[in-house]
Amino acid sequence: MVLPTKNKAVLDWVNGIAKLTTPDKIYWCDGSEAENQALCAQLERAGTFIKLNPKKRPGCYLARSNPKDVARVEARTFICCEKEIDAGPTNNWAAPKKMKATLNKLMKGCMAGRTMYVIPFSMGPLGSPIAKIGIEITDSAYVVANMRIMTRMGKAVWKYIKGDNFVRCFHSVGAPLKKGQKDVAWPCNPDNTYITHFPETREIISFGSGYGGNALLGKKCLALRIASTMARDEGWLSEHMLIVGLENKKQKLKTYVAAAFPSACGKTNMAMLIPPKALSDWKVSTVGDDIAWIKPGKDGKLYAINPEAGFFGVAPGTSLKTNKNAIESCRKNTIFTNVALTDDGDVWWEGLTDKVPKHLIDWQGNDWTPDCGRPAAHPNSRFTAPAKQCPTIDKDWENPAGVPISAFIFGGRLATNTPLVYQAFSWTHGVFLASTMGSEKTAAAEGKMGEIRRDPFAMLPFCGYHMGDYWNHWLSMVKYVKDLPLIFRVNWFRKDRKGNFMWPGFGDNMRVLEWIVKRTAGMANAEQTALGWMPRYQDMNWKGLNLTEKQFADLMAIDTDLALQDTCAIAEHFEKFRKSDRLPIELDAELVLLNERLKKRA
Ligand code: GTP
Ligand code: SPV
Ligand code: MN
Repeated sequence: MVLPTKNKAVLDWVNGIAKLTTPDKIYWCDGSEAENQALCAQLERAGTFIKLNPKKRPGCYLARSNPKDVARVEARTFICCEKEIDAGPTNNWAAPKKMKATLNKLMKGCMAGRTMYVIPFSMGPLGSPIAKIGIEITDSAYVVANMRIMTRMGKAVWKYIKGDNFVRCFHSVGAPLKKGQKDVAWPCNPDNTYITHFPETREIISFGSGYGGNALLGKKCLALRIASTMARDEGWLSEHMLIVGLENKKQKLKTYVAAAFPSACGKTNMAMLIPPKALSDWKVSTVGDDIAWIKPGKDGKLYAINPEAGFFGVAPGTSLKTNKNAIESCRKNTIFTNVALTDDGDVWWEGLTDKVPKHLIDWQGNDWTPDCGRPAAHPNSRFTAPAKQCPTIDKDWENPAGVPISAFIFGGRLATNTPLVYQAFSWTHGVFLASTMGSEKTAAAEGKMGEIRRDPFAMLPFCGYHMGDYWNHWLSMVKYVKDLPLIFRVNWFRKDRKGNFMWPGFGDNMRVLEWIVKRTAGMANAEQTALGWMPRYQDMNWKGLNLTEKQFADLMAIDTDLALQDTCAIAEHFEKFRKSDRLPIELDAELVLLNERLKKRA
């Protein structure tokens, strides 16, 4: 076979891996349609893919994972830098040499009986000055099919690889086959999973899992954990953020904002938001739904690109009512993982339709009826869909220069004592608000659901270095960026005593976004409170929504005693970072100020 590249660094690396992992074959991916067809057919024969009814879902497949391999495994995710302190208190650290020795043992012969695929890919538009190149080696054809949707993958990438300018991404399901051994539909090695990052040498080694961010290495591993260290070194930001355009047709005003929410807390929804009828002056367009790479421009503004080419979106809860654009995006050419199968060869998940089907095959392949007491789709089931299929995709979503960002929005999932929206007093105060953000844990990661944890910047599982340094890096933007975006906190998830959401959410979030956009343009009023600038009832647009002044007051209420208690919890949270002497003094000062403001009210 003629190799697609002569790059010595690439060839040496690929050959070295092949020697260690002993695959039956090496296949260099070209990203073509023919290649994809052949791979999908092969995955069908292997039982990994079930072809969906082409009349209902053309070009779509369903995959069911091993029930032990259904989400990111944070406990098995490691940052391997030379000094432990550089990984910080929020990451699992391992010494690079020691981890490599462990991995080398596991990798020995780990691809036996399998094909090793070499996937060249670009995060960001090919050739964009913000883009980065990776090469993923994997023994999973399912990963190849997903990477083709999620990244710019294929032979066009080779010419952008110069010397050593690519991130080495190694992935194996960790399930070698003995001679004649029959494969399973979802090979994996859940008892031996390692998701490891070597930020100093820009390498990723992932072993044992085939699911999502564990295996599609361009996403969390490269575009967040490795990229965050590149961003620190090179003076830009790599963030767990959606990017959205908000255009007021009447006022001819188009504003882009970027928003960080923890996993499964509403990024995809906000990225594709449809304003309620009464606010139809607004047009929302989608640039990205999960990751933003943001760089200072020459004009003093920050510019963002979406490094991805697809959506790996949460299925449950997605419907024509909650997210019509996501539903439209996954009508064709989509891979569904761990959703339920209908009797007519279509997919279903909790919340897709009001009417629940009488019979389904659930995500584990068993018969399912509405009374069986089990969910039909796994709570972290997902669709992998090409971004260009989104009806609201922004005209500049592939602009290599990015789009200018006017506001950053940070939101957690909090049932109590966190107002619907407030604005930071300053950049430093905004960094404080993001660094102290709390959120309830969701099904997107292994662990106890619903438990509240601090998730600074929604980056807790994704920051590739010391979180205190990351906050310092954000604070340092003041030096590089003249026209800094305003910073806001939001919470769509406040609940009343009965446990019902107090805010309608989804499309109605446009009301909050309208206030935010107007703030960036100096066109909306606010009042000063202990937490920040807040809209009063009359400062927001209530056209078409029956929300009383009393209901609004409840949504915005701050219980001063609880807020004061929280300042103690924040002090404790900060203590972890102080130990290593990396807590920015500015954040300490913000905590003192918050305390003073609250005490004045109490
Ligand atoms: P990752 O892909 O894991 O990073 O998550 P994400 O932040 O993109 O999550 P997504 O937008 O898919 O939201 C997941 C869940 O949040 C779904 O069950 C939605 O129904 C729910 N959700 C999104 N927006 C809102 C909202 O405004 N209000 C309420 N109550 N729920 C929402
Ligand atoms: C998340 O968990 O934030 C995701 C899904 O976006 S995964 O790619 O699996 O990390
Ligand atoms: Mn995410």
